[in-house]
Amino acid sequence: MAFPSSKHYNYLPVSVLEETESSPRPRSDLEAPPKYSHVEEVDELDYAATRPAKRPESWKKAAALILIVGAVLYLAVSGFRNAFERIGSMRCSGHKLPNSFTLPSGDQIPSVALGVWLAEKGKVGEAVKTALKNGYRHIDGAWAYGNEAEVGEALRESGIPRKEVWITSKLWNAFHAPGDIEPVLDESLSKLGTDYVDLYLIHWPVAFKKDTDNEVDWNLTDNPYPTWQKLEELVEKGKIRNIGISNFNIRRIQNLTSNPLKVRPAVNQVELSYWNPQPELVKWSKENGLLLEAYSPLGSAERVKETLEVPEVKKIAKILGITPAQVYISWHVQRGTVVLPKSVTPSRIEENFRITRLPQPLFDELEKAATSHKPERSVDPSERWGVDIWN
Ligand code: A2P
Repeated sequence: MAFPSSKHYNYLPVSVLEETESSPRPRSDLEAPPKYSHVEEVDELDYAATRPAKRPESWKKAAALILIVGAVLYLAVSGFRNAFERIGSMRCSGHKLPNSFTLPSGDQIPSVALGVWLAEKGKVGEAVKTALKNGYRHIDGAWAYGNEAEVGEALRESGIPRKEVWITSKLWNAFHAPGDIEPVLDESLSKLGTDYVDLYLIHWPVAFKKDTDNEVDWNLTDNPYPTWQKLEELVEKGKIRNIGISNFNIRRIQNLTSNPLKVRPAVNQVELSYWNPQPELVKWSKENGLLLEAYSPLGSAERVKETLEVPEVKKIAKILGITPAQVYISWHVQRGTVVLPKSVTPSRIEENFRITRLPQPLFDELEKAATSHKPERSVDPSERWGVDIWN
């Protein structure tokens, strides 16, 4: 897919970087105050005796010089400690965060999306339009969210050409049987008002029997290859650009990819947040060339308040002059994952798109804080469905 130019992406801290990079005084200025040889050589007593008439004026000059040097030193030293963390770290940061990641197909998937899970009908359309106005070019949706028609309408009303927006949808559990996939994909396409989706994911590694709410089809759950083969066919047919998985752990990924796949999974969309950072999965996915997408990146509605109050994050936000939400969203992209913050609030939608590379020491600090406590999931239907999804 041709992807829109990066002009849509604003990086808040560029101005911070510009401001702070020019402001530090060279260390040598601070450590080596200027030497005035005549001052050192003149003996105070001699000076007074040989040039008494000039003494009052020279004394004033010397006092003024001492005051100026003192003031400069004071300002430099007091500002230096605060500025150093910013400036030194900014220099380490090197470059901006990626606007997009490259998939096995060669397509570029935008790194920040608007997530529309739990975006209420009547609000989701406006949220999509606000997002597109603010530069988002990626909407992460699903058939199961029940809002694809409103999302589609907003996409059309935005006036942005279809090929400039990345649209993701997902195959619900009840439609894993090969014969059921194309009809439900067509339903999504029709609601979204498009003839293809950029990405289509197996929503959960759990298949339900047709026309049941949560009665597990163990054959298709244990062996998702027939489902995958049908998705490959739909890629060939042009209705889907890329196929992927969601909520798959390493064992389930390997169970799928041990088959002779024609198209390998482009992404795995999983819950990733401060509370559930999954460092092993992040590492494994990187090593195996599988891009992760982070859902509930702010801890989801029920924990977002608590997430934004984490002391380490508040500290980092203060240092960088950005918001805690921006720290988290930046952190996710810097971890090498696509991030899908959900919001229906215009100011938050705008805020969430303005991200920046965290200086390495601050990134490390957040990574350590996130991975030092017991992981907790926000989303886990295992019990309800009678499947241990994570094993
Ligand atoms: P709302 O949609 O009412 O704006 P997650 O992306 O982890 O699932 O979190 C979604 C929750 O976080 C929603 O309740 C959303 O509220 C809220 N939220 C999204 N962005 C922000 C933000 N920048 N500041 C505070 N809350 C936010």
